[in-house]
Amino acid sequence: MRLGVLVSVVLAAALSYSVYLPLPATVAEPCKLMLLDSVFRTMFYVGKLVQDLGLSQQIQVLNYMALFIELRAPHSTESVRVTDTTFSGVQARVFESVAPGPQRLKRGVIYFHGGGWALGSGRMRSYDLLCRKMAEDLDAVVISVDYRLAPDARFPEPYEDALGACRHILSAEVLERYSVDPHRVAVSGDSAGGNLAAAVAQELAFDDSIPVKFKLQALIYPVLQALDFNTPSYQQNGHVPILYRTHMVRFWIEYLSGDQSLLPSLLANNHTSSESREAASAKAKLNWTRLLAPNFTKHYKPVIRRRGDTRILERLPGFLDVRSSPLLAEAEVLRRVPPAYIMTCEHDVLRDDGLMYARRLEEAGVPVTSDHYEQGFHGIMVFGFFPACFSVGKQSLRNYIHWLEENL
Ligand SMILES: *[C@@H]1O[C@H](CO)[C@@H](O)[C@H](O)[C@H]1NC(C)=O
Ligand SMILES: *[C@@H]1O[C@H](CO)[C@@H](O)[C@H](O)[C@H]1NC(C)=O
Ligand SMILES: *[C@@H]1O[C@H](CO)[C@@H](O)[C@H](O)[C@H]1NC(C)=O
Repeated sequence: MRLGVLVSVVLAAALSYSVYLPLPATVAEPCKLMLLDSVFRTMFYVGKLVQDLGLSQQIQVLNYMALFIELRAPHSTESVRVTDTTFSGVQARVFESVAPGPQRLKRGVIYFHGGGWALGSGRMRSYDLLCRKMAEDLDAVVISVDYRLAPDARFPEPYEDALGACRHILSAEVLERYSVDPHRVAVSGDSAGGNLAAAVAQELAFDDSIPVKFKLQALIYPVLQALDFNTPSYQQNGHVPILYRTHMVRFWIEYLSGDQSLLPSLLANNHTSSESREAASAKAKLNWTRLLAPNFTKHYKPVIRRRGDTRILERLPGFLDVRSSPLLAEAEVLRRVPPAYIMTCEHDVLRDDGLMYARRLEEAGVPVTSDHYEQGFHGIMVFGFFPACFSVGKQSLRNYIHWLEENL
């Protein structure tokens, strides 16, 4: 009996220790966030364990677990027809609203899911629910593209999948097949998917072989640069779940090269030391002391290395490539991209990527709607669905769909 009590107390303490996490005072629903985070952390540990046993890579184990729990078969309802297909060889799930009444052309949205270019799928429950809701609320055809993932496909392959799928979807033949209005197509995505959406929007703005242009882009807490892992938001939110600073840098490495031994150097901004001339010109485009308002820079100071390791950038040109880092695009490119909606969260390492892009687009004359969530953390919009349902997540989802409703 006494032993039972003792064991229970120790177990409860171990559990609360593993769940408990000091969080910023203003983050949404902290208890729920701690629970969610402990689930993710447990999955990371299991992945690490399997990797240490030499059986598989951590990131692949994580993706396997996520898909095992979350994958859903295509399931049509009275209001939305759902089918799995491919565009230019890239898998995708199509959600078509089947509203009653006279047939007319519909809006179209091409969507890229998040997951650090290494995790997730448009066929996962959360993204299935998201795209289903968009199709229904907007009376639209939503195409959720399953670009290939790292480590099997590294930059530029996932980007090329995204671009190839968009080119095919924007062809007259596909738009006609799904009754999509060529003047009302948007590209969108969250996190790494927001990165792909922004990069593809830049490329297609200049591609005259494609007569159909995106009307809009909607970027949800996008990843946009890999040159400064010490922006105020990286410094402020390095330990805020669910996207820790080290996780984000690991995702970048996995996307661009796979050599995780670079992690400490990148965290220290050693890859962008002043010795590197290419890095210097790129860094001027994400000078956050100029691009961010004081209420975001707060007391944080830039981390600038006089001496570092210039070989990193020589070995990894992807770090300076606008197709991986759309924030590094020239102003002449930005001027041509479609009007943007950019969602950012205060408690997110990627907050400043989004804020800086919004500012640079505005400076280039592109209309931008910025939607900032003071209580938000990374991933919040996808956590608007039961059981990981945060009220800020639901609200952000409503605002996002409302913006599309008004503008698309
Ligand atoms: C960033 O902008 C500030 C203010 O405009 C300027 O003083 C500084 O030299 C700039 N830094 C870089 C690296 O361009
Ligand atoms: C920060 O400043 C910007 C521009 O000055 C303003 O639009 C925004 O509402 C402010 N945000 C907060 C959280 O105070
Ligand atoms: C960054 O570069 C400096 C200068 O080369 C070196 O002394 C330092 O150890 C490096 N830091 C990391 C974390 O690699």
